[in-house]
Amino acid sequence: MAYRWKKNLKDCDVTDESAYLDRRQLIGGVAAGAMLAGIGTGARAMELAPNEWDDITSYNNYYEFGTDKKDPAKYAHMLTIKPWSVKIDGLVERPGDYEFGEIMEKMSVEERIYRFRCVEAWSMVVPWNGFELADLLELAGVKGDAKYVAFETVNRPDEMPGLRYPVLDWPYVEGLRLDEAMHPLTIMATGIYGRDIPNQNGAPLRLVVPWKYGFKSIKSIVRITLTADQPPTSWNKASAREYGFYSNVNPEVSHPRWSQATERVIGSGLFAKRKETLMFNGYEEEVASLYSDMDLAKFY
Ligand code: MTE
Repeated sequence: MAYRWKKNLKDCDVTDESAYLDRRQLIGGVAAGAMLAGIGTGARAMELAPNEWDDITSYNNYYEFGTDKKDPAKYAHMLTIKPWSVKIDGLVERPGDYEFGEIMEKMSVEERIYRFRCVEAWSMVVPWNGFELADLLELAGVKGDAKYVAFETVNRPDEMPGLRYPVLDWPYVEGLRLDEAMHPLTIMATGIYGRDIPNQNGAPLRLVVPWKYGFKSIKSIVRITLTADQPPTSWNKASAREYGFYSNVNPEVSHPRWSQATERVIGSGLFAKRKETLMFNGYEEEVASLYSDMDLAKFY
């Protein structure tokens, strides 16, 4: 099974040490041990200036805690994240409940500085810490007939006040095609700036697919199921004409209610010029070949 893409690391993929040291100062006071692997890959890390910790952790979408951008930072502390396990089932050789600590012992955590583009046309740059989803899937052993990966967020009405409102059909679910899931850019994030990922950002582990709109990056995952058929996804179920299964960032395809050509960069100030949105959020070189049979002028 040759699902795994060979990692061709270039010099520019590795975070420059002085930038890393700057960041260490930025998060001064954090124990060195919490810095995890620190220096790792990050597509074109050099050109990206990460957003500040406060922006990344106080302006969130996590509807299980409310629909206001400030709600997750206010209420997500209510979520118990210890103990935590992820059920991996469906078309895998070794189905079961994988305990979070045991997963972390087996995975190699790297820093990945990625652009993050929400479908609502705002963006940030986030210095994630995480491991490749492919490594986790390989731990469970993907069977030959698997074609998709389905993800599910924890569903705890007692700890998640937003679940009282039928904004979405809970629990939040998402999905990827298997080749998208196995792509080396696709990670499970477990940290930001070398600290454990805060609850409002999807603790203890959340998906990050940097070339897709942010809603694909599902938070606080408790279940991963390998399937033969395309799985349902929350936003697509809520409004299929507005949110496609693929939802690759594409400045040329407008959302029915707004343009996707430009984005508001969080932290750049109220009157800052909007930034032009890049095809596949700037990861075209890495991922365009996955979609060579699709007409990019269309909505998917
Ligand atoms: N995952 C869950 N479970 N619930 C959500 O409401 N929101 C999505 C995505 N993952 C969401 C979710 C959306 S719309 C975005 S833009 C990102 O999370 C926001 O991630 P951030 O808060 O870390 O920036």
